[in-house]
Amino acid sequence: MDLSINGIKLDYQVDGPEGRPWVVLVHGFPFNRATWKGQVEALAKEFRILTYDLRGLGASQLGPAPQPLEAYVDDLLALMDALGIARAALGGLSMGGYIALRAAQRAPERFWALLLCDTKSEPDSDEGKLGRAAGIKALHGNGVEAFAQGMLPKLLLRPGAPEAQALLALMLKNSVEGTANALAAMQGRTDTTPGLKALKLPVLVLVGSGDAITPSKGAEHMAALIPGAKLKILENAGHVSNLEAPEAFNAEVLTFLKAVKP
Ligand code: MLT
Repeated sequence: MDLSINGIKLDYQVDGPEGRPWVVLVHGFPFNRATWKGQVEALAKEFRILTYDLRGLGASQLGPAPQPLEAYVDDLLALMDALGIARAALGGLSMGGYIALRAAQRAPERFWALLLCDTKSEPDSDEGKLGRAAGIKALHGNGVEAFAQGMLPKLLLRPGAPEAQALLALMLKNSVEGTANALAAMQGRTDTTPGLKALKLPVLVLVGSGDAITPSKGAEHMAALIPGAKLKILENAGHVSNLEAPEAFNAEVLTFLKAVKP
C-alpha cells in the first residue's frame, strides 16, 4: 500500500489486529521494510505494526534531492498522522535508529517505548563523513551493485549466510539517487547524544556482539546515558542483528514491549 506523504509516495504495510498498541519499525540503510518480516511475524499477535520504506529506498519515492535526515523524521511523523497513529512504540535499526531517536526527541508525546537497534547517537566523525563522500562518488561512478557488494561483508557476522543474499537482493532494488541521498542524510545528521538524558520513555538498546558498523561500545554508551534504559547484547550477531539472531532479537523485543505497553 502507499500514501502520499510530504509530496512523495511512501510504501507501507500494516499488520496485526486492530485495537492493539501500535509498534512502528524503521529499517536500516540501504534496505527496505522487508528486513522486518521476522519481527512482524513475531509481534503481530500482540501488536498492530507499521513498517514502511524510507524515502528513496524500496518502493518509496525520494522527492527532490537533497533530503536531510530531518525529512525522513518528518515522513515518519506525517505517516503516523495519516494513519491515525497517535502513539506508538518506535523501533529503528541503524539508520532507522538515527531516525527513531531523533523522532523521539522531536515528538516525545507520540511514543510509549523506544527500541534502538544496532545504532548510535553520535554523528559521523570527520573520517566517517569522508567515507560517506567517497561512497556517494563511487555510487555515481560504479552503480548500486558495486556499492552493495562493498557493504555486504560488513553487515553480518557470517557474510556467507543465506541472509547475505537476501540483503544483497534488497540493496539492488534501490536507485543510485535514493541510496546516495540516504548516505548524504546520514553524513549531515545531528548529534542526538545531548538529548539522551532527557528521554522519559522506556528504552531497549539492542546490538549484535559482532556489529562492525555500530559497535556495541556505542550501544553501551547510549544505554548508560538514557535513564532506565535496558541494554541487551545479542551473541553471534553482526550489524543486522534482527536477521542474524532473529529468535533472541524477537524474544527481547516481545518481553520488553509486553512489560511496558500502555
Ligand atoms: C545502516 O545500517 O543503516 C547504516 O549502515 C548505518 C550507517 O552507515 O551509519
